[in-house]
Amino acid sequence: MSHQFKFDVVIIGSGAAGLTAALHLPQNLSIAILAKTSNQQQSSYWAQGGISAVLEPDDSIEQHTEDTIEAGAGLCDAQVVAYTAANGKDCIEWLARLGMPFSRDRQEISRSGYHLTREGGHSRRRVVHAADATGKALQQTLQAHVSELANVKIFNQHIAIDLINREQQCVGLYALNQSNQHVDLFKAQTFVLATGGASKVYLYTSNPDGSTGDGMAMAWRAGCRVANMEFIQFHPTCLYHPDAKSFLITEALRGEGGKLLLPDGEQFMHRFDERAELAPRDIVARAIDHEMKRLGVDCVYLDISHKSRAFIKSHFPTIHQRCLKFDIDITKQSIPVVPAAHYTCGGVMVDTNGHTDLRNLYAVGEVAYTGLHGANRMASNSLLECLVFSRAAARKISEEITPGKRLPGLDRWDESQVTDSDEDIVVAHNWDELRRFMWDYVGIVRTDKRLQRALHRTELLKSEINEYYGNYKVSADLLELRNLVVVAELIIRCALARKESRGLHFTLDYPESSDKFLQPTILDPSQQTRPAKLVSI
Ligand code: FAD
Ligand code: SIN
Repeated sequence: MSHQFKFDVVIIGSGAAGLTAALHLPQNLSIAILAKTSNQQQSSYWAQGGISAVLEPDDSIEQHTEDTIEAGAGLCDAQVVAYTAANGKDCIEWLARLGMPFSRDRQEISRSGYHLTREGGHSRRRVVHAADATGKALQQTLQAHVSELANVKIFNQHIAIDLINREQQCVGLYALNQSNQHVDLFKAQTFVLATGGASKVYLYTSNPDGSTGDGMAMAWRAGCRVANMEFIQFHPTCLYHPDAKSFLITEALRGEGGKLLLPDGEQFMHRFDERAELAPRDIVARAIDHEMKRLGVDCVYLDISHKSRAFIKSHFPTIHQRCLKFDIDITKQSIPVVPAAHYTCGGVMVDTNGHTDLRNLYAVGEVAYTGLHGANRMASNSLLECLVFSRAAARKISEEITPGKRLPGLDRWDESQVTDSDEDIVVAHNWDELRRFMWDYVGIVRTDKRLQRALHRTELLKSEINEYYGNYKVSADLLELRNLVVVAELIIRCALARKESRGLHFTLDYPESSDKFLQPTILDPSQQTRPAKLVSI
């Protein structure tokens, strides 16, 4: 049977952003954390490279800010970038106090004691990490502390369906309990979306299955503006193997000297950018895409085998092991790689406290658009953003909330008009179709014609999915598909509005950047019929 729950705060998502928010909230608040999947199904768990932060005396907040702005191709909010960079050290120290097992610098070159690696766009070594499995160590550290909190209740296998908006205030949430297929009602004073990104909207992605943009779609339906959805980051190097399901090969491998090679062994990145392998990701992914199309090949290669076996095994133990499973010994052979959708730079518009357009609704982590990443996120700035903005949101919530406050009555989920589906094939077919045309028409290289084709298809799919949603009982696959089609449309509408190429948005119709477009692209659900606007904020 379905239940009604009441908490002070409901957090949707148990990745780095959601767990960090929970740990910074006061312990006299009752808190629910909803997650639709098991413990390893957050992007946070799979993070490899690390977390960027200014930790050394010869680095500076100004330099981190400058590198981020340069990678962001003119669209970062400079104040937000400086604010994030300034809070990095504190957040790393907080994690270290929680027991996060960061890799140490055995050669004692760094003053901080941490081993710092380097990634694309960073002008120096600035990335703390736990070998090549930073996300696993981070999630285990955060989860261990959250599980000790008596005021936090975790609802795994609960997939949030929709937020309830009453007079521009978020007052409730419906969620499908996947263990009994009933829809529960959650009431709270404050809701925090920490639902991650939307890369699953593409056929090939580095992300786990749950990255279906649910938070972006829910916030949009509830009346929040979204911004910069056209800037989808394609990670240049995912393992190319039929059984590998887009396993990521960290950028830190290039940071430690890995070279990109064509099938004949020729290096090519220097032809595209003087920073070669360490150019920002948009440039490297586009260069690989260009070379693959030029030569008609299925992949390029990444080679670190010139480093000693001991070095490779200690810095990249996870990648070494994983590749061995596919008979690739990275200490001797180069790794076949291709780009795949990796990160959603845009999202739900928030201020520096993570607050959205709706009262009592916050958004933190990859679901949010803070202004930090601009047109292209710099490597390892995402986990930093999760830590900085989740802490800020928690502080703001604790200033404003009254523990145990009475909440308004809300209707329970009504299933009286729907039946069990006998046509699951429709959902499966539409999942595949959507992800394929997004890959083919809205990928690394775009044109207006391709975008228009994709938009037309989303409109057809949307009406079919909405009809299905109206007539049948909800399932996890249907809910995710319903969200994916919304996110696809938001990406396409933003891309169509940007008549230039900048950062991660490259279109053959307008291959140059133009100062006319030096603003974020903002979509407002209250003006749904109008095209996306580029707005100065
Ligand atoms: P996630 O960690 O994705 O968590 C989302 C949570 O929301 C999950 O618990 C999910 O179950 C839940 N959820 C989603 N929808 C619903 C719903 N409808 N109902 C209930 N729950 C829901 N960034 C870096 O800075 N450094 C790195 O080294 C790095 N490496 C990466 C490597 C990989 C392979 C990937 C995929 C990403 C990497 N990133 C990295 C990006 C970074 O990991 C993510 O941006 C970040 O972890 C996002 O955290 P999050 O908490 O916002 O979302
Ligand atoms: C990587 O390790 O290459 C991913 C880092 C990131 O996405 O920030």
